Amino acid sequence: MIKPKKIYLYTIGCQMNVYDSDQMLAGLAPMGYEQADAPEKANLILVNTCTIRAKAEQKAFSFLGRLGELKKKKTDLIIGVTGCVAQQEGAQIFKRMPHVDLVVGTQAIARLPRIVQKIEAKRCRVVDVTMAPVQQKQGPKPQANLQGGITRFVTIMTGCDNYCTYCVVPYVRGRETSRLPSDIVQEIETLVGAGVREVTLLGQNVNSYGQKESLGTFADLLQQVHAIGGLQRIRFTTSHPKDLSEALMRSFASLPKLCRHIHLPVQSGSDRILKRMNRRYTQAAYLDKVARLRDWCPDIEITSDIIVGFPGESEADFQATVDLIEQVAYDGLFVFNYSDRPRTPAATFDDKISRKISKRRLQAVLALQEKIVKAKNSRLVGTKQTVLVEGFSKKQTGLFNASGVHAVQWTGRTNGQKIVNFTCPEETTDDQVQPGSLVKVKIERALAHSLWGHAAPLGPQADVPKGESSYAA
Ligand code: 5AD
Ligand code: SF4
Repeated sequence: MIKPKKIYLYTIGCQMNVYDSDQMLAGLAPMGYEQADAPEKANLILVNTCTIRAKAEQKAFSFLGRLGELKKKKTDLIIGVTGCVAQQEGAQIFKRMPHVDLVVGTQAIARLPRIVQKIEAKRCRVVDVTMAPVQQKQGPKPQANLQGGITRFVTIMTGCDNYCTYCVVPYVRGRETSRLPSDIVQEIETLVGAGVREVTLLGQNVNSYGQKESLGTFADLLQQVHAIGGLQRIRFTTSHPKDLSEALMRSFASLPKLCRHIHLPVQSGSDRILKRMNRRYTQAAYLDKVARLRDWCPDIEITSDIIVGFPGESEADFQATVDLIEQVAYDGLFVFNYSDRPRTPAATFDDKISRKISKRRLQAVLALQEKIVKAKNSRLVGTKQTVLVEGFSKKQTGLFNASGVHAVQWTGRTNGQKIVNFTCPEETTDDQVQPGSLVKVKIERALAHSLWGHAAPLGPQADVPKGESSYAA
């Protein structure tokens, strides 16, 4: 019998890392590794790292630094670094962090179990940051990690060929490579069989899915995923605006399971800065795509990423970004201070913007966006939204349901991307509301980052919005 062992996995960064962490857990499970809820309880600690901005990298090193003391007390503890910092720094990490035993890059995840086995047997140090020099035909088939959950990420492609001048991804994730549609469908079917109801398809630029390998388009893939019985919702991220096709826009109108939300990072509203970023679209072209998206799907929610303080960004350039944000009226924004990254062209650009100016611009964008979201969310008060229940809300703050009875608070998302916390009528039974149920919620209050409401009386879900009626429990 395999002796149970404990793994503590600390994941930093994007959804791709969350998916990769799932893959690592699935790969290590046959070796007897079960998840620990604290580093102190683990035999193996992995830090799955991100290097997109300097801050994310610092976070990884400060966590790793703290593990030094633990290793002194527990000498057989294995400590590993995986993900983008591992890929970027390789064996250098051993010098900086003498207590680290393994460094495994972004394309070596499938080899992780063998590496851990080797270290367990020989107490050696291993680094594997090999990258495919050319695009890999077909990587090892990822395994579905079946440990619970209603919503899951599924990577459909890895790497990026776009080389935006600020971005480290092409260097640490390698060339763009798409998985076979049949493998993707099979993985989602397995997840649905284990109770998953919503998948988010992941890629750095899903719009170019399958193009290099002639595997069909992303819109074709969406149709295949849509046909999977038992799957209720499909999301995807991220879309590069230059590659957003009419066929994909049409999918929002034709595929009822496709959630009406698109993350469409614009980065800047200034044509001059967009050019320096190598984004290959203009503000006008971006706004035109937004208008066409809204023609196909009037209530689509649009979110975006913005970088402020990019080298050479003048007040006028920044103002162009502010104008664009006002015109689009986003449903959510992630705003970042520009950060120099190793090997990227922008790191060598002159006209760097001071931290002070960059921070001021970031605060201005956040304040503007808060105003926009508040106005948009308050328009939802009084409406009924279909919410896919994900579980209990973390904030169980003594709430009362519509009949004034103290009630537990559930949480989920609208068909767009808004978080809704809600209570249920007193007579609600477990089979009416549980993780995975679709519930109509009357929105009572709009907060800055979420909505709050009461589940409408359950029973036949008469007025579930278009697209979700056939899936209502
Ligand atoms: N500095 C600041 N933000 C960055 N991003 C990517 N690289 C950098 C950088 N060097 C942001 C972009 C991207 C998001 C994932 O991270 O907005 O869309
Ligand atoms: Fe980075 Fe640009 Fe690729 Fe996105 S599209 S991962 S920002 S290089």
